[in-house]
Amino acid sequence: MSELVLGIESSCDETAAAVVRGGREVLSSVVHSQIAEHAVYGGVVPEIAGRSHLKKILPVVDAALEQASIDLDELDGIAVTQRPGLIGSLLVGVSVAKSLAFTRQTPLIPVHHIEAHVYAASMECEEAPYPCIALVVSGGHTALYRAESALEMTLIASTLDDAAGEAFDKVSWLLGCGYPGGPAVSALARDGDPSSIRFPRYLPRDGGIGFSFSGLKTAVLYHLRGGDALAPTPAPEDMVGRADVAAAFEQAVVDALVTQTLAACRKEGIQRVLVGGGVACNAHLREELGVRAGGAGVEATFPSPAYCTDNAVMIAGLGYELLRAGRTASWELDALAR
Ligand code: KG4
Ligand code: ZN
Repeated sequence: MSELVLGIESSCDETAAAVVRGGREVLSSVVHSQIAEHAVYGGVVPEIAGRSHLKKILPVVDAALEQASIDLDELDGIAVTQRPGLIGSLLVGVSVAKSLAFTRQTPLIPVHHIEAHVYAASMECEEAPYPCIALVVSGGHTALYRAESALEMTLIASTLDDAAGEAFDKVSWLLGCGYPGGPAVSALARDGDPSSIRFPRYLPRDGGIGFSFSGLKTAVLYHLRGGDALAPTPAPEDMVGRADVAAAFEQAVVDALVTQTLAACRKEGIQRVLVGGGVACNAHLREELGVRAGGAGVEATFPSPAYCTDNAVMIAGLGYELLRAGRTASWELDALAR
């Protein structure tokens, strides 16, 4: 077997396809981002996402095969994000993967999106990084796992409310920075002083591990409205210390993510961390986790930014591992939102 896997990703607002050999060698990666279509709404609109995936998925798959100079007949498997995600979006990728796999009688491989985000970081490692603590931090998820291998992950803790990326997106909206919020807030934060405001950090009770970002988001709202929740949010040009708010908010998020990740390492007795998801692009998080993990004797690995946000390389990569383990699906495969 030449170990060629086509990956297809359509769980949220990126339509992506990639061809990967042996779980590691990237032959092609094509991502069509729907950001422009959702930006005016300040977030992903599920109906628009589903329709856009329908329009783009076949051209994106074609482009990935062409870039890799691979014909459908040469594939050893077709991997697709089956869960979790927006159901109308997942269904597009799953239907296309099923049809292509059925016509060629190629194995169909269902992939869990969160596990694939972790796999993206493992692709950067020379040696197998297991067991490890995995931090998945994106627009839809913020959670810590213990991973024994690429295929065995156990949830340690997840957010009680908003995901960290969602908090970035909401605060960005308040600050008038646009969508997606992460990169915009982060750019504004570079001109601010993170210690100028002390926003709250959620601390789980009884020394437990966990995340919560809705209190932080509300604290930013109260701060911008001068302590009166019903007052209007000032226009960006009228905001006092706008960059300081961005920097202090970013610091609070990064602090929570790093503190809880290192707490999970201590609790599980593990010295290895893999990080994945769109928020893993955040330069401040990459730097602070690197420094604080180093101080605790923990090694942390991030994917390159293109493989932090949604992509199909991570789907094809993990798909290869699943194929080797015989974890393929029947033609009855269905998408699952959760
Ligand atoms: O993994 P992803 O592409 O999609 C989901 O599965 O959610 O993550 C998108 C999220 C968005 O909320 C976006 O604001 C955030 O990742 N993000 C960032 C940065 N780049 C993207 N958050 C903070 N800093 C960044 N540089
Ligand atoms: Zn994702």
